[in-house]
Amino acid sequence: MDLSAVSRAGAVAAAAAARRVVMVTGANGGIGLALCERILSEDDQIHLCMACRNMQKAEAAKSELLLSHPGVDISLLKVDVGNINSVIKAAKEIKKRYQRLDYLYLNAGIMPFPHFSLKAFLSGLFSSMFATGEGLLTQEDWLTDDGLQQVFMTNVFGHFLLIRNLEPVLCQAGCASQVVWTTSSNARKSAFSLTDYQHSQGQESYSSSKYATDLLSVALNKHYNIQGLFSSVVCPGLVMTNLTYGILPPFFWTLLTPIMWLIRVFTNTFTLSPYNGSEALVWLFTQKPESLDPLVKYCSCTSGLGNNYVAPCKMDIDVEVAEIFYQELLKLESKMKANNYITGDHN
Ligand SMILES: NC(=O)c1ccc[n+]([C@@H]2O[C@H](COP(=O)([O-])OP(=O)(O)OC[C@H]3O[C@@H](n4cnc5c(N)ncnc54)[C@H](OP(=O)(O)O)[C@@H]3O)[C@@H](O)[C@H]2O)c1
Repeated sequence: MDLSAVSRAGAVAAAAAARRVVMVTGANGGIGLALCERILSEDDQIHLCMACRNMQKAEAAKSELLLSHPGVDISLLKVDVGNINSVIKAAKEIKKRYQRLDYLYLNAGIMPFPHFSLKAFLSGLFSSMFATGEGLLTQEDWLTDDGLQQVFMTNVFGHFLLIRNLEPVLCQAGCASQVVWTTSSNARKSAFSLTDYQHSQGQESYSSSKYATDLLSVALNKHYNIQGLFSSVVCPGLVMTNLTYGILPPFFWTLLTPIMWLIRVFTNTFTLSPYNGSEALVWLFTQKPESLDPLVKYCSCTSGLGNNYVAPCKMDIDVEVAEIFYQELLKLESKMKANNYITGDHN
């Protein structure tokens, strides 16, 4: 037997096992893809798993990344976070592939059929409304095949189930793992209600879902820090992506560009490009999770001169409400199991 070949193979396997594993949902475009690109620029020794719904777009995104970062280790995983079975299946596959997950970026998100109020936009020029988007947007929502509200399922519950089913690879003694949610400054307390946390009654399902995410992150830290899992939330600012092109067509955004540049002088949350918008997400990749404040949202900002930085913003969160909401999600998970929407072992 060629012993040197055996020891070389052993060294390669050890190096692969030592690689940090980073998974990004919604990685095939927009902020998710920019994040993948920037993380590979930070550390080209990681294993990157792009968890996507549209695999054709995922293949194209992977090829793009391999072009700018030849030789990096990238794999694809199919997941529709708006579908319970798909999430459970993906979690099983992840546990087969990896012994541990170091970073899980929960970035996939939707804002379906948004209606934009031009009146609110014009009357709010230069006011603080631009920091939160209050009054600017309403959305349409509908039920999934699993009987849940689509926006809640995609933006919140699908990712929650992913975490729950990935406990064995996320919660490991002696090494911290981090989940990072792409939420929004549009996460408003006034849009969220504990009695209708799926937002079946209102028209601001997006804002409600993002506030729910903020609450959930706080509760996750309470329950999981002791197991080595840490959760953070990020606001990417206003970024031109397919999501924003759903609000107004690209043509309108182009017309508004001079106004947006002007607004950027007053509020640095108009990051505009996916690269700028991913600033706080990438910054978190370089931080010790234990050092982060669970009650803070880390916001990507771009100054009037185009410089990127991260601004911590205290969240308007009641930790008791966060805990009640977390318990409600556990109850919902049990209910979906009892109704056979969730099948198979939890772990
Ligand atoms: N753009 C902004 O100004 C802004 C501001 C604040 C927060 N955000 C948040 O940033 C995140 C990324 O959005 P973006 O602006 O980059 O928009 P985007 O370009 O539309 O990207 C959204 C990503 O999520 C994926 N996705 C949507 N539904 C999914 C599902 N059911 N299962 C799996 N993947 C799904 C999309 O994949 P497909 O290709 O399959 O559709 C896409 O990769 C979202 O959570 C969004 O709420 C954006």
